[in-house]
Amino acid sequence: MGFVDYEVDGHVAVITINRPKALNALNEDVLKDIEAAFDAVDLSEIRAIILTGAGEKSFVAGADIAAMSVMTKEQGEHFGKFGNDIFRKIETFPVPVIAAVNGFALGGGNELAMSCDIRICSDNALFGQPEVGLGITPGFGGTQRLARLIGPGKAKEMVFASRNIKADEAYRVGLVNAVYTQEELMPAAKKLAGAIAKMAPIAVRNSKKAMNDGLQTDMDQAIVIEEKLFGGCFETEDQKNGMQAFLEKRKVEQFNNR
Ligand code: CAA
Repeated sequence: MGFVDYEVDGHVAVITINRPKALNALNEDVLKDIEAAFDAVDLSEIRAIILTGAGEKSFVAGADIAAMSVMTKEQGEHFGKFGNDIFRKIETFPVPVIAAVNGFALGGGNELAMSCDIRICSDNALFGQPEVGLGITPGFGGTQRLARLIGPGKAKEMVFASRNIKADEAYRVGLVNAVYTQEELMPAAKKLAGAIAKMAPIAVRNSKKAMNDGLQTDMDQAIVIEEKLFGGCFETEDQKNGMQAFLEKRKVEQFNNR
């Protein structure tokens, strides 16, 4: 994977997009490498993933403008689908994905961060969807996920006026959960990923699926989705161990993902 680094630390994987000369801009090769990294995750071991960008300046500065500058209508549509399919894979990935946004998250970069479950950022982060200034719409889910995350009024202001927002505003509007200094960002991401990795993995996965799937439907169907996934946990060894430990007034030593 030439444009992506993959590291494992215990039950946590760190996927780093590594094309710093172009501020980690996404062309087809970078997108393919991101997908390959997710495909390579060993789900019997990995319980949380951190996604970040290489270098000091940028998470991802968007889809590759040079590559897009010569695309036809059909190629544009194909490129949009190509990115959307990979971002949807990340959004529905069985284990939680934390975006550690370490700088620019513009266009496809903000869209990539929004495909993750949780976003935290450094104080130099900048978020935005500048596409209309390039003569295109956001194309990797930005017209859909931004409005769902921060509300249509604010999303439309950012998209229509190509208005970027800094870390503090991203925190205020709920686009990120927390802001750290550049030095503190990765330790904070690892601490959060580590806390998730200590929990019962099947219960975490089922919680993610229940929230994601439930948000796509009405409440009557959503609670049925929850009931099935809640019920499924009772077939697990981790549920038996977790509850037994509580009743015996001790901490669970570890969950075994079974
Ligand atoms: N595509 C291709 N190359 C990019 C890029 C991008 N999105 N963003 C940055 N680069 C390249 C620059 O061309 C430059 O390359 P050279 O050194 O070869 O000239 C290098 O990265 C460094 O960039 P800058 O010199 O511009 O760095 P800066 O610090 O002065 O500015 C920036 C940083 C404000 C992020 C600026 O690079 C910028 O505005 N980038 C484009 C941001 C953008 O518009 N993103 C949206 C793309 S469209 C999209 O993503 C569509 C979609 O939804 C699918």
